[in-house]
Amino acid sequence: MLAGKRVLLIIGGGIAAFKSLTLIRELRAAGARVTPVLTGAGAQFVTPLSVSALAAEKIYQDLFDLTDEAEMGHIELSRAADLVVVAPLTADLMAKMATGLANDLASTLLLATDKPVLAAPAMNVRMWQHPATQRNFATLKDDGILFVGPDEGEMACGEFGPGRMSEPADIVDKITAVLANGPLEGRHVIVTSGPTHEPIDPVRYIANRSSGAQGTALARALAALGAEVSFVTGPADVPPPAGVRVIPVETALEMQTAVQAALPADAAVFAAAVADWHVANASDQKIKKDGRGVLPVLEFAENPDILAEISHLKRNRPALVVGFAAETDNVLKNATAKRQRKGCDWIVANDVSPETGIMGGAENAVTLITDAGSESWPRMSKDAVATRLAQRIAEALA
Ligand code: CTP
Repeated sequence: MLAGKRVLLIIGGGIAAFKSLTLIRELRAAGARVTPVLTGAGAQFVTPLSVSALAAEKIYQDLFDLTDEAEMGHIELSRAADLVVVAPLTADLMAKMATGLANDLASTLLLATDKPVLAAPAMNVRMWQHPATQRNFATLKDDGILFVGPDEGEMACGEFGPGRMSEPADIVDKITAVLANGPLEGRHVIVTSGPTHEPIDPVRYIANRSSGAQGTALARALAALGAEVSFVTGPADVPPPAGVRVIPVETALEMQTAVQAALPADAAVFAAAVADWHVANASDQKIKKDGRGVLPVLEFAENPDILAEISHLKRNRPALVVGFAAETDNVLKNATAKRQRKGCDWIVANDVSPETGIMGGAENAVTLITDAGSESWPRMSKDAVATRLAQRIAEALA
């Protein structure tokens, strides 16, 4: 089930740490290799010897343990596994993760890793329900951290409610689901996302209201199905998802170069709100008021249409090219014409008139236009649109 998979297991300091011993046994029984990391507080609950004996692996405890550093640096350790699991995740470790602290081995590994992270919180019910913990929980979910639990039930401290660490068998199930080979395993997908910034001078630029939320959600959903994602993103409001190759760009021209460099790909999805023009007479220096009321005149030049260019490639054209059509009127008619004009396979049309609240909002109502016609999807979260679209892409590439 988990044969050949490597799990880096970080054991935090809570009474639930004793369940992590069972977790190690069950992970090994499923075929996984477990590299254990025990925090200082964790070592108050379980002994390093029992952890490393059950894992049949060296245990890592101290950031400044020079022997470990000589064998394997902490950066390497954070990336050598397929998945990082934190069980139990304490309120303290959660706060460190949410603020990006790196003052011990566990928090440093969590900041340095480029692998998915699955956490199993465990703490007293009031600590779990505290607004600070809930804030940290929301932040970590936005950062792409995966969670299992906490469960509800009687706690070691005698109180009742949410806060119990999930049972080891449930954690193993979740790990198996996360590590399962998805339908897009071995497929490379390029996703463009966010707005572009077109400079006027070194301090000013022209931009649009795209937050990058839909493109980011899509990249995350594709990665969750096993795709290798090249995420070419303009300066977005939302952070990029974990587990994708992030290629940050500013301008449309940089986005074009980055997309070309990322080819070949099995599919390319163009969710970016690319500026149609750049300022042809952008200044190298900050433009000053001249004091006599003479206003600067900006000249515009058209940006390359990246979607059309990739759709019309003779060589290296991705098998599936998907564009978005942000429209404010005649959505279906304009989007259908746009699909023809640009030469892409699918267009995801959405109405971005201000009254819809879609641009910069959390929801989207889209119509998928393909060769076969158009399908209107109900209004749903951008995450749900992303999941559905990623599944359709997986089916099309199968
Ligand atoms: N697009 C692109 N490069 C551009 C402009 C747009 O790759 N220079 C892509 C977008 O990522 C999107 C699709 O083309 O997938 C349509 O973008 P949209 O802004 O709706 O269309 P435009 O081509 O700008 O057309 P118009 O402004 O006439 O509506």
